[in-house]
Amino acid sequence: MALLEASEVVAGYGETEILHGVSVAVNEGEVVTIIGPNGCGKSTLMKAVVGLVRVRTGRVTFKGVDISAQSPERIVRSGLCYVPQSANVFPSLSIRENLEMGAFVRSGSHPDRIEEMFELFPDLALRPGRKAGSLSGGQRQMLAIARALMLDPALLLLDEPSAGLSPAIMGMVFDRIQSINSAGVALLLVEQNAREALRMSHRGYILVSGRNRLEDRGPALLDNPEVGRLYLGA
Ligand SMILES: Nc1ncnc2c1ncn2[C@@H]1O[C@H](COP(=O)(O)OP(=O)(O)OP(=O)(O)O)[C@@H](O)[C@H]1O
Ligand SMILES: [Mg+2]
Repeated sequence: MALLEASEVVAGYGETEILHGVSVAVNEGEVVTIIGPNGCGKSTLMKAVVGLVRVRTGRVTFKGVDISAQSPERIVRSGLCYVPQSANVFPSLSIRENLEMGAFVRSGSHPDRIEEMFELFPDLALRPGRKAGSLSGGQRQMLAIARALMLDPALLLLDEPSAGLSPAIMGMVFDRIQSINSAGVALLLVEQNAREALRMSHRGYILVSGRNRLEDRGPALLDNPEVGRLYLGA
């Protein structure tokens, strides 16, 4: 059984249908990347999975439970956390306050978890009182990921975690993603930096115009001439 299984998901905004029956799965412990042209519905798929966009038809299951009609809060509590493409931290709150907010729906105290996050992201530990709004793009992305990890999810959804970052910082973010995965967390990524993302992914999907186009193991997609031509600038 897959950890996450989205089957034939149809979703959109108002009258407009964006996803016309998209299917993706993430198995326990996997890193899976979704790539595809701008506007093809990658972010919409993530929002549909976490309950922010209604699943019109089709089904999303997480740990075998149908979550297609569940509230985002309930989905998050069940261990599926999501870092959106933008506006993913509270700029006027400090690093520590952002992490505390991340654990908001978790019961009990969580100082140990904050310390674990500071170990994983040492940059954040330097000045925990610093306002998130004053952080660099890379640090902010790390904080957004750490905030989502506060709930100790089984699956983490990251929408373009490397967007707008320099190659060096991007490498650092991908490196952290691999550490998170090594600790047993499955990841579903949306990425524009397809080559780097597919290289570290167990599997990948290519979406075009709200439909599945290709799916394969990460390295196999990298070697696929169609993928190379369209998405890797080969
Ligand atoms: N809140 C919204 N209301 C109406 N239309 C929207 C909304 N959000 C996205 N769309 C439209 O849905 C389509 C898919 O958008 P989506 O953000 O899912 O694409 P994407 O693949 O993530 O693109 P990008 O690579 O640019 O992030 C686009 O045509 C977009 O304009
Ligand atoms: Mg997007």
